[in-house]
Amino acid sequence: MVHITTALLAIAGLNCFVEAADQAPLSDPTNSAGNHHHYDELDPTDAWDVAYHRASNFVSSLTFEEKIHMVTGDSYAGYCVGNLATQSRANFTGLCMSDGPQAVNRADLISIFPSGVTVAATWDKDLMYRRALLMGSEFRGKGINVHLGPVAGPLGRHALGGRNWEGFSPDPYLTGIAMGLTVQGFQDMGVQTSSKHFIGNEQETQRSMSDGEDKTDAISSNIDDKTLHELYLWPFANAIRAGTTSIMCSYNRINGTYACHNKKLLVDILREELGFRGYVVSDWWATHATVEAANSGLDLEMPGWEARYRRGDPWFGDKLEEAIGAGDVTNMRLDEMIENVMTPYFLLDQDKDDYPTVDDSIAWVRAVTKFGWGSDIGAGLPPMVEARDVRAEHAKFIREMGAAAIVLLKNTDNTLPLQAPKTIGVFGNDAGDPADGMYRDSKVKMGTLDIGGGSGSGRHSNIVTPLDAIQEKAEGLGSRVQYVLNNQLLISGETRMIYPKPDVCLVFTKSWAGEGSDRDSLDLDWDGNKLIASVASWCSNTVVVMHAGGVIAMPWADNPNVTAVLAAHYPGEESGHSIVDILWGTTNPSGKLPFTIPKNPEDYQPPVVRKPQADGNWVSDFDEGPMIDYRHFDKNGIEPLYEFGYGLSYTTFEIGYDTFELDLHVSNAGAASSMPNESLGKKPGGWVDLWTKLATAVVPVTNTGVEAGHTVVQLYMSYPDSEDDQPVKILRGFERVYLEPGQSVDVKFPLLRRDLSVWDVKDQEWRLPYGRFTLMAGFSSRDVAGGSIGMTILEK
Ligand SMILES: *[C@@H]1O[C@H](CO)[C@@H](O)[C@H](O)[C@H]1NC(C)=O
Ligand SMILES: *[C@@H]1O[C@H](CO)[C@@H](O)[C@H](O)[C@H]1NC(C)=O
Ligand SMILES: *[C@@H]1O[C@H](CO)[C@@H](O)[C@H](O)[C@H]1NC(C)=O
Ligand SMILES: *[C@@H]1O[C@H](CO)[C@@H](O)[C@H](O)[C@H]1NC(C)=O
Repeated sequence: MVHITTALLAIAGLNCFVEAADQAPLSDPTNSAGNHHHYDELDPTDAWDVAYHRASNFVSSLTFEEKIHMVTGDSYAGYCVGNLATQSRANFTGLCMSDGPQAVNRADLISIFPSGVTVAATWDKDLMYRRALLMGSEFRGKGINVHLGPVAGPLGRHALGGRNWEGFSPDPYLTGIAMGLTVQGFQDMGVQTSSKHFIGNEQETQRSMSDGEDKTDAISSNIDDKTLHELYLWPFANAIRAGTTSIMCSYNRINGTYACHNKKLLVDILREELGFRGYVVSDWWATHATVEAANSGLDLEMPGWEARYRRGDPWFGDKLEEAIGAGDVTNMRLDEMIENVMTPYFLLDQDKDDYPTVDDSIAWVRAVTKFGWGSDIGAGLPPMVEARDVRAEHAKFIREMGAAAIVLLKNTDNTLPLQAPKTIGVFGNDAGDPADGMYRDSKVKMGTLDIGGGSGSGRHSNIVTPLDAIQEKAEGLGSRVQYVLNNQLLISGETRMIYPKPDVCLVFTKSWAGEGSDRDSLDLDWDGNKLIASVASWCSNTVVVMHAGGVIAMPWADNPNVTAVLAAHYPGEESGHSIVDILWGTTNPSGKLPFTIPKNPEDYQPPVVRKPQADGNWVSDFDEGPMIDYRHFDKNGIEPLYEFGYGLSYTTFEIGYDTFELDLHVSNAGAASSMPNESLGKKPGGWVDLWTKLATAVVPVTNTGVEAGHTVVQLYMSYPDSEDDQPVKILRGFERVYLEPGQSVDVKFPLLRRDLSVWDVKDQEWRLPYGRFTLMAGFSSRDVAGGSIGMTILEK
């Protein structure tokens, strides 16, 4: 389908298109954690500087006692999952932090939004931003100051990673764009973001220090410097560039040191290299030291002092007070920690009267979620109030985004969209109501799955199931629906009793994933493989829908009776409506896989580490370097079942024109220097010059079919031969575009200096490689073609 022949070779000379260059160096080497500014260096036109100035003034108004409370969470002081106490003398009304990345967790009358992986599957920048804006309005409406998200760690190194669905994609570029837009959406609503989990938190198994007597250390993610920069750190740089106000350090160790005590990561990399200006907050109970943590760049410990959810005394709090008394942590460092915590608060004007107060119903919902109703449930809680309804019209958006994310993997003889079937069969335990309860946050048998489990989950106020939505649709069309939802009955042959045979059999399957454990297998839950085989053995028009948080094994994909397959991910509360829109063609599918589906589970590497080394130490060596997901398949010549970026449509698109040279042309390729121009300064996100556009690729795309619809044009790149051990190709651009039949558009892909650079371990800097880059455009990572561009480097 793709007709790209080659690229126009455009070699330009000295081109550095840069706007502004105005910032003094950020770090002061005399300070332990590297972020202290001098007033005379502050720029009154820089929002971060202005906010920092206010934070500094705030700090100088605090007593020592108050200061300790500004860096230690306090569960006695509020009912959010993270709380900073009110300091009324200093006019500070406290800070409320809440999970999670797909909903306001542990709250009532909120919306369940599409999960991170679902967001990535849309490949739609506008939807990514709008989702964050609407979620932001719900967090704000509840009076929450800090949204604990978005997630770029796990990135998705392991197919079985229990939290992959909270993040976006194992591709750092796709995740980076999603991180930046999510941060921007929330913060445009005035809500802080805490980009997490920093870093190398790729598996749940032994992710943190064991509780109790046995204090076995958390797993150590041993990551080399180049892989860290080019893969795992990449999307965090986007988040910082977009102004994320906070970074949450993770549970695991990196190279043997806990993430929240890791000075190289929290100071050298976050502050000095990336110019981060907010605060580092520990993941809940991820701190294991006082002096080491405070002096290594941890600014705020959570949850700190605890009442009902107690796990022990904080490492900050009284212990920090003693450490300062003993001179092991300086007062200057303490002030700096508070400045880091408060700069974002002033940056987003959270001190203003129009910021809503915390919805007190959160106290009750959280207690009920944790303990259930009981005699002493109300002890210490504020009077019960009705929850503030913050949902507005968000269901409409959730429906749209859920549909936009659905990936059509197989569609034999245009089975879909459905052509007015008279009888419809609906099968499988994922189709119907969550009969065991809407609030169960675990792997449950009955009911549709629209969100994963753990802190990133949410409590449904409403859910539209596939069965509900299909019945509603069928009624309007005069079709009839027959259903059996019990997988075991179906596997043992219950479909024998159905009469007449449905024109189409819709099989709904699921795979649960949640925080705290990794998945056991890539197979669908509840004998999904057998369920599909059983229905297909009898129904020659079987359509499979999967609700899953990531990679699924599909040994039944080639079954000729399985005529269509849809990956619907975790779509959020409008699940049924979203799938109906795709099944009947109201929405033309355009979702693309944000990961690779292998033919055999073993093809997807590396596996989760399930046991310690002989000495009892838990270690995960990231020996594969940056070769995860499609990079691994490409490098090792493994044919996937469905590749990264893949997804079908009800129409056809083509890239390319008859004019040979216009197929893919690149302008302004050229650079003066292989290293970023440091005199342009550093801002959040690192050297300003890393974000300079060096080239633009233009790709013409046409809708060659008879249906209107969206498609996602993807741009991949290979480094010049001068670089060893680089991936065969990497994603460096994507755009989702809408085209009427016959319509064409030129899609433009800006390539920034960072996009074209490699991390030079020796020079500790991003460097443009010398030679010819290959650019490829297409509709998936394996459906691409292109040509090369030369990059002229005039000096090192
Ligand atoms: C607190 O706010 C009041 C009223 O706006 C103001 O007079 C007072 O100076 C403020 N106190 C501090 C410490 O900023
Ligand atoms: C971890 O160790 C590797 C190998 O020595 C090194 O390249 C990398 O920079 C280290 N990273 C951190 C954060 O210490
Ligand atoms: C496909 O369905 C037909 C019944 O319509 C059945 O006879 C056949 O065995 C099925 N094939 C498979 C591979 O299940
Ligand atoms: C670096 O930026 C400065 C300030 O804009 C400019 O004067 C200088 O020419 C640039 N250097 C290079 C090598 O492009």
